[in-house]
Amino acid sequence: MDRKLNLNRAETFSFVNPWIRYFLFFFSFLFWVFSLLIVAIGVYAKVQKATDTVRDTFLIDPAIILIVVGVVMFFITFCGCIGALRENIRLLKTFSFSLTLVFLTQLAIALLGFFYSEQTQDALGKFVKKAIVHYRDDLDLQNLMDYIQKEFKCCGWNNYTDWSWNLYFNCTRENPSTERCGVPYSCCTPVPGEAVINTMCGFGVQTQNYLEANKSIYPVGCADRAVMWIESHLLLVGSLALGLALPQIAGIVLSQMLISQIQDEITSVL
Ligand SMILES: *[C@@H]1O[C@H](CO)[C@@H](O)[C@H](O)[C@H]1NC(C)=O
Ligand SMILES: *[C@@H]1O[C@H](CO)[C@@H](O)[C@H](O)[C@H]1NC(C)=O
Repeated sequence: MDRKLNLNRAETFSFVNPWIRYFLFFFSFLFWVFSLLIVAIGVYAKVQKATDTVRDTFLIDPAIILIVVGVVMFFITFCGCIGALRENIRLLKTFSFSLTLVFLTQLAIALLGFFYSEQTQDALGKFVKKAIVHYRDDLDLQNLMDYIQKEFKCCGWNNYTDWSWNLYFNCTRENPSTERCGVPYSCCTPVPGEAVINTMCGFGVQTQNYLEANKSIYPVGCADRAVMWIESHLLLVGSLALGLALPQIAGIVLSQMLISQIQDEITSVL
C-alpha cells in the first residue's frame, strides 16, 4: 500500500508547477483575444476612413499603428499561450525574449519623452496645429479637438488666438468667413442656467484681450493645460505606466520560471 503510494507519487511528480503553467496560459490567452480585438478595430478604422487628412496629420495612420501593435501582440501572446500549454521551451523563450524587447522599447520611449519633454511638447504642438488647420476638413480631427478643448477646458495650443491658423477662423481683415476671428464652440465656458445654448459665443473673441475673452471662453492654451493636468495627475499617470509594465514583467518572470522548471524536468528524466 505504502509502496504503491510512493510509486504513484514518483510517477506523477513534476518539476513543472501547474499553477505557473496554467496562469501563464490563461494570462496569454486573455491578451491573445485582446490582440485580435485591437487588429479588428484597426482594420475597421482603416476601412471606414475615406479621407486621409488624419493620416497626414499623424505622420502615420493611427489605424496602421493599431494593426501593427495588434499583430505583434498576437504573435507574442500566441507563443506564451501554446508554449505554456505544450511546455515548449522554444516558444516560451521566444515569448520571453520578445516581451523583454517590447518592454525595453517602451521604457526607452518613456525615458526619451521624459528627458526630451521640450521636444515632445514641440512635436505635440505641431500635431495640434495641423489638427486646427484641418479642423473643418475632417470630422475625426474636429471631434478630437472639441474633445480635448472641452475636457481640458482650454482653447488652441498656446492660447485662443491660435485658431487663426484655420482658414475659417483666421483673423485677417480680408477673410470673408462668417467665423472670422472666432473660435469653435468647444472653447466656450458653459453658462449655468442657460436655456438655449449660444453656439455663437466664440464669435470674434480673437479680437478681445485675455480678460474679455475669459468671460465667454477658456482663454488658456491646451499646452499649459496638459502640463497642469499631468502635474496634478502624477499618481494616475504612474498607475497607468505600472499597469502597462506589470503584466509584461510578470509574463517575463513567469515564462523564465517555467523554462527553468521544464529544463529541470528534462534533466531529471535523462
Ligand atoms: C497668444 O499666444 C501667442 C503666441 O504664444 C502670443 O504671441 C500672444 O500674445 C498670446 N495672446 C494672448 C492674448 O495671450
Ligand atoms: C491668416 O490668413 C492670412 C492670409 O491668408 C495669412 O497670411 C496668415 O498667415 C494667416 N494667419 C495665421 C495665424 O496663420
